Amino acid sequence: MLQLPKVIGHRGAAAYAPENTLASFREASRRGATWVEIDVKLTRDGVPIVMHDASLRRTMGIDRLVAEMPRAELPADVPTLEQSIACFAELGLGCNVEIKPCEGRERETARVTVETLRRAWPARLPPPLLSSFKDASLAAARDVAPEFDRALLIDDLQDGWRSRTDAVGAVGVNTSGKRLTAPRAVEIRAAGFALSVYTINDGAVAKALVGMGVHCVITDAPDVILAALN
Ligand code: G3P
Ligand code: MG
Repeated sequence: MLQLPKVIGHRGAAAYAPENTLASFREASRRGATWVEIDVKLTRDGVPIVMHDASLRRTMGIDRLVAEMPRAELPADVPTLEQSIACFAELGLGCNVEIKPCEGRERETARVTVETLRRAWPARLPPPLLSSFKDASLAAARDVAPEFDRALLIDDLQDGWRSRTDAVGAVGVNTSGKRLTAPRAVEIRAAGFALSVYTINDGAVAKALVGMGVHCVITDAPDVILAALN
């Protein structure tokens, strides 16, 4: 089965530093995380960058869409995927790479992401885990680079989850820790999947989820969750 750490820092350590920045990855490492989660999308000119939203407004105060901006016009503190990988190499961090395509770029974003990982991911780090809410992105990733493990992101698990994971060859399910039920956790584990939850920042809640069989907790505050689980 896919081996994951007990805790992954969400967007780095988003409780303590600007999300999805090199500073956030450093903060996550400083607070004990051995892996981080990042969101990858493409600029207008096809450069994979690390950014959650379609727009730069919330995080950068710039009212423009990522899909309409060339990399050269993005603020320097928005890292490329390659700059992020170099930072992970320096810190010894593993990574859950969430493919977060802008509308209509599901397959292209996946292709560019896995091509970049193939070229730049250091062999001495644990292999990255790909994830996405978009089935088309995971299918494209599998077609181009089947060697990378995949987890399907499903916010609200319904009975059809297994056909979706099988269709994209996923070995993990990443779901909302607030919506996950105990029977569903048992079902996913019994089917042999790695089970991760997001975004849990409360130690007692994380402990209860691990008690339900969750393998990995994705959190903005890795120090808090590590302290609760250890
Ligand atoms: O990958 C877990 C989590 O990041 C999924 O939701 O919206 O924070 O990217 P979101
Ligand atoms: Mg994410």
